[in-house]
Amino acid sequence: MLIRRTERFKASEITDEKLYLNRREFIAGGGAALALAACDVADGAAPPAGAPLKAARNDGVSVKEVPTKLESATTYNNFYEFGVNKDDPAREAHRLKTRPWTVAVEGLVHKPKTYDIDELIRAFPLEERVYVLRCVEAWSMVIPWIGFPLGAVLKQVEPTSQAKFVEFTTLLDPVQFPGQKPGFFGGGLEWPYVEGLRLDEALHPLTLLTVGMYGQVLPNQNGAPVRIVVPWKYGFKSAKSIVRIRLVSEQPKTAWEKAAPQEYGFYSNVNPTVSHPRWSQATERRIGEFRRRPTLMFNGYADQVASLYSGLDLKKHY
Ligand code: MTE
Repeated sequence: MLIRRTERFKASEITDEKLYLNRREFIAGGGAALALAACDVADGAAPPAGAPLKAARNDGVSVKEVPTKLESATTYNNFYEFGVNKDDPAREAHRLKTRPWTVAVEGLVHKPKTYDIDELIRAFPLEERVYVLRCVEAWSMVIPWIGFPLGAVLKQVEPTSQAKFVEFTTLLDPVQFPGQKPGFFGGGLEWPYVEGLRLDEALHPLTLLTVGMYGQVLPNQNGAPVRIVVPWKYGFKSAKSIVRIRLVSEQPKTAWEKAAPQEYGFYSNVNPTVSHPRWSQATERRIGEFRRRPTLMFNGYADQVASLYSGLDLKKHY
């Protein structure tokens, strides 16, 4: 099995029909399916919520399931900087200013570079990829993300031979992120939110540097202006609102590992055979569905990523 395959969905089955009609008009308008335009917003200004973002669909890596309702994907979120309840991010996310914004790509690289976010959005062809986001809390969503392989940026800065891991850091700003205020219960996390990948995981073509979803710029509550999506790992590996990507020689200490190492390992590969200490990971509930479904090894991407872990005891390295 390459990836999950069910029936192809029709545009009319997707909640935000207008969005997809817009895309069809765009495609009809001059063979523009491969046009790789970024959002049509002046540099320096934050694009308004819901601003369209054009991207060519990459069917080869996309699941063929009906996407979760846009409303669910933007109102049922984990973004502890805004609070620990699922509806906190949608309510509080207007506080986040996504321009000006820079992302420093640095550390063990020959050509460190700080990208202005608009420069980054234009630097590589944008693709739409429909991935399943499987949260460690045993729910999942099907989301048409927009972005490009993280590997494209990493190759541009030329990692040195000492670089073995990649560390992602979220913005630290308690004014914009109420959850980072001293005394506020942020789920026991230390700020800023830090996540990490092994270099080969970061370079894997499925790993997406993500700037949009559902044909729009990324909503703040989903990690604007830029986040990671690693489709074979639990959702918490997908750090949001990133300001720094650092190439390092040692395995980074991640926010969740620091908070509860017995519950959240560095690898966090989706694995139905390794239970969370407090609940099973064998099944999941797709948001919007009633019945639970079996969780797939590596979230359905075993054919593409299992070889990264040959020889590694995945029960020990959860
Ligand atoms: N990134 C930051 N900075 N802060 C967070 O609290 N939560 C993670 C991840 N990235 C989180 C984060 C978790 S637990 C999940 S499941 C996903 O974001 C949720 O992404 P979504 O809200 O877009 O579905």
